[in-house]
Amino acid sequence: MCKTKCLFAILAITINLVYSWDIAITTGDQLEFYTNQTKTSNEGIRFRDLTALAYDAVHNMLLFVDKQNDNASIFSYNLLTKKYQPLVGRRSYENIQGLDFDPVTGKMFWTDTNERSIYWISLWPRSKNNIYGNILLKMDNEIPRDIAVDSCRGYIYWTNTNITKPTIERARFDGSERSVVVDSDIHMPVSIAIDQQTRRLYWADDKEGIHYSIESSDLNGKDRKRILVGTYHQPNALTVSKDSIYWVDWGFKSVWKLSKTAPVNSEPEELIAFTNEVPFGIVANYKIADQTTNVDECKTLANLSENKALLNESINIPQDVGLFCLHGVKTGMSACKCSPGYTGERCEISICQNFCFNGDCRVNSKGQPECKCKNGFTGPRCTTDICSLYCLNGGECKLDNDNAICTCPLGFEGSRCETRKIVQITPTAEPCNCTKEENTTKSVDTSNVYVETDCSPGWDPIRDPILMVLGILCGLLCLICALLITKILHLRRRPRIKKRIIVNKNVTPLTARPDQCEITIENCCNMNICETPCFEPRNAIRPTLVDSKPGKEDRRNLIANMEQDDIY
Ligand SMILES: *[C@@H]1O[C@H](CO)[C@@H](O)[C@H](O)[C@H]1NC(C)=O
Ligand SMILES: *[C@@H]1O[C@H](CO)[C@@H](O)[C@H](O)[C@H]1NC(C)=O
Ligand SMILES: *[C@@H]1O[C@H](CO)[C@@H](O)[C@H](O)[C@H]1NC(C)=O
Ligand SMILES: *[C@@H]1O[C@H](CO)[C@@H](O)[C@H](O)[C@H]1NC(C)=O
Ligand SMILES: *[C@@H]1O[C@H](CO)[C@@H](O)[C@H](O)[C@H]1NC(C)=O
Repeated sequence: MCKTKCLFAILAITINLVYSWDIAITTGDQLEFYTNQTKTSNEGIRFRDLTALAYDAVHNMLLFVDKQNDNASIFSYNLLTKKYQPLVGRRSYENIQGLDFDPVTGKMFWTDTNERSIYWISLWPRSKNNIYGNILLKMDNEIPRDIAVDSCRGYIYWTNTNITKPTIERARFDGSERSVVVDSDIHMPVSIAIDQQTRRLYWADDKEGIHYSIESSDLNGKDRKRILVGTYHQPNALTVSKDSIYWVDWGFKSVWKLSKTAPVNSEPEELIAFTNEVPFGIVANYKIADQTTNVDECKTLANLSENKALLNESINIPQDVGLFCLHGVKTGMSACKCSPGYTGERCEISICQNFCFNGDCRVNSKGQPECKCKNGFTGPRCTTDICSLYCLNGGECKLDNDNAICTCPLGFEGSRCETRKIVQITPTAEPCNCTKEENTTKSVDTSNVYVETDCSPGWDPIRDPILMVLGILCGLLCLICALLITKILHLRRRPRIKKRIIVNKNVTPLTARPDQCEITIENCCNMNICETPCFEPRNAIRPTLVDSKPGKEDRRNLIANMEQDDIY
């Protein structure tokens, strides 16, 4: 039960709070509300640089420009729901100085002094809009600055600040019936407001030099009244409430207030003085009922503000407007043409993103990313370490103002140590010749003279000659040995000793041996027994003597034979 009651209570309080402000001001990143010179609230946490401001009393909505938002330029702020909505996409080159809203047709109008144009979009439900607004009027010589909507009669009024030919002009909502309302005795009309109650235009004129004026005329530019002429103010925005005129002044960084009914040239009241930020836009809380009482042309407006049901239906604030092409221009229903330096479906990706590995990225005139590499790196994306693989043959790399410098190892020279440093070898020390570079080895002697010596098996100047000499010696020794051996063999060829067994003619020998051995006994005595070429067959040897030493055995055999011989 409390739920709905509490909700109503909160709503009532909110409405009270909403209606408690007298004026709202954009200053810096803040949206500020004031009651009786006292700041009652500020709403601007999300914004950066707020400028032009408009108030729609029918829908209780503020419309304002954030010059520095990435996504959108014009936003709405619902005072009841406290919700922000982006309404218009941001162009890269724009300068919105004034905007106003017609609650009857649901059209919002704004001026762009850079484009010298007046744009509009409709906030009606289901209206088809260019996200950046539709051009209503494109001017050549005029510089439109502020704009005010006459909702009761269906006109827009704007000020033209070309100081050669300044004017206040008006046209229908469709741009037709354009006409000049004021073009005389005017210098630089910076701001304009419409007061339905008095059916009058009010404007601030930044006169030449230090002068300024606050002036008024009827809706056709007639019945001009110079309300205030003064010095040192630099008026910017001006607004009208039920009984006062307010303006923002850049000269004193103040908001000034002057009664609508004050006699000519009364002193204005300095309402708010700013210290740091400079105020830009200002709107007064001028209730529709107060504006439209007894103004016949404003019946539609008055009825609209009383028809709550219609009110809730009447405005469709486009969702996500201005968020389609973050850095670019919308070209179709959902296609973006990205500004230089951006890519992606919604131009949300900077082409510089992750482009340079070791350096800073910027977008060049062709819209391509370009890297400024850190010291020691090169390549289009700063990926190459200048020193990496620069010095050949083991050279040491150092940086000198982004140039790689090699310190070469012994034996090499050249900017990259690519050249072999050749040193002549003393001819006597050259044991062999190198023909194949790959198989050469380098050796460095102690006196820092580079000697290029070969060779594949590794020539050792000390060891190898010794080996050579040893080899030759060995060869000689072998030769000597061979000679000696042949000599010995030759020496052993002595006269053959025959063993002759003398037997009786009629007696056959005990053993008939094919290798008859004849021994001339006389010679025998001179012989070494070992050299005796005659041997007894093995079967004649007595078993006891088998294991005896060969010398002994021979001798025994010989003696035995001789004994036997004696028997015969
Ligand atoms: C605003 O100030 C005036 C006088 O300066 C005073 O009479 C009035 O009561 C004040 N209103 C509020 C709401 O404080
Ligand atoms: C712009 O839109 C993006 C995505 O919608 C959002 O994250 C970002 O906060 C917005 N930037 C500003 C300044 O509002
Ligand atoms: C101002 O208007 C005049 C003619 O009306 C034109 O010649 C001049 O170029 C305009 N000045 C600028 C800055 O556009
Ligand atoms: C060594 O070889 C080179 C060619 O490879 C030749 O010019 C040079 O005369 C040779 N030196 C000797 C000592 O053979
Ligand atoms: C170097 O010598 C080795 C054997 O000593 C041989 O197999 C190789 O082919 C040689 N290299 C070149 C390039 O001549």
